[in-house]
Amino acid sequence: MNARAFKALWGGAVALMLVAGGLSAAEPEAKKAVKLPKPPARTQPLLDKGKQAFTLYCVACHGEKGDGQGPAGMALKPPPRNFAKDAFKQGQSTAEIFLTVSNGVPQTAMVGYGHLPEEDRWGLAYYVGEFIPKKKAAKK
Ligand code: HEC
Repeated sequence: MNARAFKALWGGAVALMLVAGGLSAAEPEAKKAVKLPKPPARTQPLLDKGKQAFTLYCVACHGEKGDGQGPAGMALKPPPRNFAKDAFKQGQSTAEIFLTVSNGVPQTAMVGYGHLPEEDRWGLAYYVGEFIPKKKAAKK
């Protein structure tokens, strides 16, 4: 092998290693991209805002008690979540509910409410959280 061919081969190998390295480094990067926002403090005014918005925008499907029995929710498939009983497919932390409310659930009647002021969406996230039964402290 002459020196020129060796250089070309070597260059190719380095390029391949760079590409491969770049690809494997890109993966954890992509996972990190889904970062949950940090909820603001849970205050009574924020909860009040949430209740107000819930009554306006959500009760028709999710019902006043958050049980999914709203008049417009009856015929839907999948049905609106019963916040008190059903598992949350998108997660039930305040930040996760905030994202659900902001982005909606694709392929369902649950549309995103990203057009509402951010404060209202945090209020909604906290208000929806109120319907979730608190886990009983383990008696041990
Ligand atoms: C047109 C009816 C409708 C309206 C209005 C509606 N939802 Fe929903 N919602 C649904 C349906 C249907 C689902 C169930 C989607 C599924 O099964 O994945 C759902 C699911 C959810 C979930 C649970 C997602 C999960 O993690 O499983 C949350 C939280 C939620 N809605 C919040 C709200 C809030 C807050 C509002 C008002 C801003 C609202 N929804 C308005 C129909 C509605």
